[in-house]
Amino acid sequence: MRQHVNPLSQFFQLPLSLPSKNLLFKESHYPIHLDIGSAKGEFLIELAKNYPEWNFVGFEIREPLVSLCEKKRKQLKLNNLKFLFCNVNVSLDEWLSDLDYGQLKRVSIQFPDPWFKRKHFKRRVLKTNLLNSIAKYMSKDGEIFIQSDILKLIESMISTIDQNRYFDRKGEGDFSLIDKNPYNVKTDRELFSLNKNLPIYRAMFIRNKLLYVN
Ligand SMILES: C[S@@+](CC[C@H](N)C(=O)[O-])C[C@H]1O[C@@H](n2cnc3c(N)ncnc32)[C@H](O)[C@@H]1O
Repeated sequence: MRQHVNPLSQFFQLPLSLPSKNLLFKESHYPIHLDIGSAKGEFLIELAKNYPEWNFVGFEIREPLVSLCEKKRKQLKLNNLKFLFCNVNVSLDEWLSDLDYGQLKRVSIQFPDPWFKRKHFKRRVLKTNLLNSIAKYMSKDGEIFIQSDILKLIESMISTIDQNRYFDRKGEGDFSLIDKNPYNVKTDRELFSLNKNLPIYRAMFIRNKLLYVN
């Protein structure tokens, strides 16, 4: 399986029409936790087992990973979880527009691809447009959780979210980071980083009460 795909290639710029929440979940009105770049899906599988009164959706740009995750999900008969193939920067906004008002409560972006070279920065997943889509549909007090083992990357993500008027960083200080994954379930990359004794940088942002204005 390919390690990375270029999200800016023509193929991944085609918007996909994704199934609506009513087709995805048994209890489609439950609050939603969305994980961006869900990869092998173990994080959401664990959460879906532990929190049956939430719905979980993993969005992933590498289609073979989505097929693999869906196979695991079906074997476990988890009907509060779904993995969807798409480029979130292209197809997420339309999918979110179908949710009930205030239903989107959590978004996690964990160890996103760093795209180290400056000329590749534009391939990074966290962009202003994506944040605005989340801001538009997220309930007040909803949260965005981010983590990475790459300082420069987390600094850039924090700066992007800090500049967005709809989110407030949780915690005090110039660089308020949290020392523990708040969901008590670790992602694959998080386990890898912990095993290698790499530092992990985390931050949480809360949707404030400002009404979204286009
Ligand atoms: C480094 S992996 C981290 C996976 C997982 N979150 C973890 O912490 O173990 C980043 C994932 O984001 C996916 N990804 C990157 N850009 C994306 C995009 N635009 N839309 C959806 N998924 C994307 C990649 O394919 C990859 O599986």
